[in-house]
Amino acid sequence: MLQECLDGLAINPSGVYVDVTFGGGGHSRAILEKLGPEGKLIAFDQDKDAQANALDDERFTLVPMNFKFMANQLKYLGYEEGVDGILADLGVSSHQFDVGERGFSTRFDGPLDMRMNQNADQTAAQFLNKSSQEDIASVLYKYGEITNSRPVAAAIVAKRSEAPLKTTQDLISILETFVPAPVRNKFYAQVFQAVRIEVNQEIRVLERFLEQSSQSLKIGGKLVVMSYHSLEDRLVKNYLKSGSFDGELDKDFFGNVRRPYKPQGSKPTIASAEEQRVNTRSRSAKLRIGVKLKEAGNE
Ligand SMILES: C[S@@+](CC[C@H](N)C(=O)[O-])C[C@H]1O[C@@H](n2cnc3c(N)ncnc32)[C@H](O)[C@@H]1O
Repeated sequence: MLQECLDGLAINPSGVYVDVTFGGGGHSRAILEKLGPEGKLIAFDQDKDAQANALDDERFTLVPMNFKFMANQLKYLGYEEGVDGILADLGVSSHQFDVGERGFSTRFDGPLDMRMNQNADQTAAQFLNKSSQEDIASVLYKYGEITNSRPVAAAIVAKRSEAPLKTTQDLISILETFVPAPVRNKFYAQVFQAVRIEVNQEIRVLERFLEQSSQSLKIGGKLVVMSYHSLEDRLVKNYLKSGSFDGELDKDFFGNVRRPYKPQGSKPTIASAEEQRVNTRSRSAKLRIGVKLKEAGNE
């Protein structure tokens, strides 16, 4: 949905834009193509591998950090007046997914790592070896929609008492006893997704990012978010609609709704049938766009 993201940003050639999920730089390159000589693009990525893709362009700056630090970093770089558009293409990049040593993929045997930031404290192995059975079950249920999360968590805890889990194959060998072969890959992917979301604190980080986005955008600036998980999409949808994560509207004394954004459209944009056919990841993508309002409640 590259074109839809660009349309959502409605790029002003001399504007300042932020791509908080730089990855392989595909979206950033397309944004730079739309910018004139005065335009600026600031990108974030917490994965040090992404630095190898940094673009050689004087209008471009890559901040090698978690986007939960976006607002302060933009001020530090001199953009106190706000930026014109912010893009987030959430989740894991194909590079991260395709490198077995990162531990994100069920397709390779690699270390149980799953950290997007290689310097972060907690790996997937640490989470699975140290957390309580209840916490593991809750993560599998909340972030992976694993309906039998309790017996799966119990099996993980039983196995780790023999020897700590170290590799993706250690985890898969526990999971394979729970599902028949035809649906195994889907089940493994759901469990890996759940552990990854927990290890990278993706939901909490998204909440902080959404709050900061409304502080960092100019009035009329665009927030464009592509998410791949129903919990993420719900947070984005609620925040754009109401300025809160539970969707509760905040009203002032006179009953005016206070919210930072006006959502563009009531439904998310999804990938075309053709894109879904060639890019399986796009099948779960939901794109939402918000326009920063003048003042909360003042459209
Ligand atoms: C789906 S990929 C983005 C792909 C990118 N749009 C492109 O065109 O190549 C997501 C990227 O965002 C990064 N990322 C995810 N969460 C992040 C966070 N909280 N802070 C900084 N980077 C993050 C990941 O490391 C990954 O490289």
